[in-house]
Amino acid sequence: MQARASRQIGLVVVRISPCTRQDWEPRPTGFANRNYDELDWPRNTLPCDEFICNDVSSKVVPFHARELTANMANSDFNDGAAYERLMGRWSRLVGEKFLDWLAPQPNLAWADIGCGNGAFTEEIIRRCQPASVLGLDPAEGQIAFARMRPGTELARFETGDAQALPFPTASLDMAVMALVIAFIPDPAKALAEQVRVVKPGGTVATYMWDMPGGGFPGIHLFQAMQQLALPNPRPPSSALSTREALESIWTSAGLKDVASTKLSITVFFENFDDYWTTFTLPAGPQAKHIMALTDDKKAEMKDILRRILPIAADGRIAFTSFANAVKGRRP
Ligand SMILES: C[S@@+](CC[C@H](N)C(=O)[O-])C[C@H]1O[C@@H](n2cnc3c(N)ncnc32)[C@H](O)[C@@H]1O
Repeated sequence: MQARASRQIGLVVVRISPCTRQDWEPRPTGFANRNYDELDWPRNTLPCDEFICNDVSSKVVPFHARELTANMANSDFNDGAAYERLMGRWSRLVGEKFLDWLAPQPNLAWADIGCGNGAFTEEIIRRCQPASVLGLDPAEGQIAFARMRPGTELARFETGDAQALPFPTASLDMAVMALVIAFIPDPAKALAEQVRVVKPGGTVATYMWDMPGGGFPGIHLFQAMQQLALPNPRPPSSALSTREALESIWTSAGLKDVASTKLSITVFFENFDDYWTTFTLPAGPQAKHIMALTDDKKAEMKDILRRILPIAADGRIAFTSFANAVKGRRP
């Protein structure tokens, strides 16, 4: 297992120390002098752009998110480390609530479709005692990151498309998509594929930030872009992320016992710079839009954001984000 970890870490990190995988942990940005236990989040949800090795026998070699994937192909979601800071931390928090709501039995065969960098896959393994997990995503950089996560050794990852799943018919118990459906050009086709691969009685479920309702953590960016009359970077199937739309498409796919819920979390940024850096890392569709702006436009956008974000007196920014979830059973 250690050999597997070193090989995969070696794929993306050049300056690797002799640490084993469990010796690495995120070091939260700007929290170096804080007592982690004072904070009310689990340690692995803290904002971080560095990892630090705890093995005192090894040389401490911090590495930065950008170095991890500098040579990887460019796409909206091909940088697993950047994605971790942008969304992985929130994905885990909302994913925990989603899994509690699903309340699955142990020993099930899962597929995590659009698994990204494995943030949610890790939660499935940690909380649900699955028999197996297949993780699938078109972005090779995300898959490379997913493979090296401390908690994903049970999972098997491959690249592929939700609209043409490389899994046999009726082979799985649970097919889930976490924060993916809005990015898929033909969500009905992806849903039909999910229905195909689960056994009769199996569950098909998803959750997505409520894009029309303002639940996306980057909602203030969209508002600022709108005020500046800039193109809208929302994902193509964003309209599907309301509870009504999700229930409707789930029912149309022939699923039974369809139910939906709203999942809310508090997202947090240490200060405005943390917010801006997070959303301009190379992950997600908003970053390339923002980075293509002139310096003057970026400055205008920052001014608007400083007005509309809830910035506390100490500079910290916290607000509620929310996703909608839907589940159904294959008859
Ligand atoms: C916001 S990320 C969510 C990642 C992960 N599920 C999570 O919760 O952190 C969206 C993911 O959808 C993936 N994606 C986009 N189009 C897809 C498609 N056609 N099939 C499968 N995944 C897709 C992207 O590569 C990206 O990793």
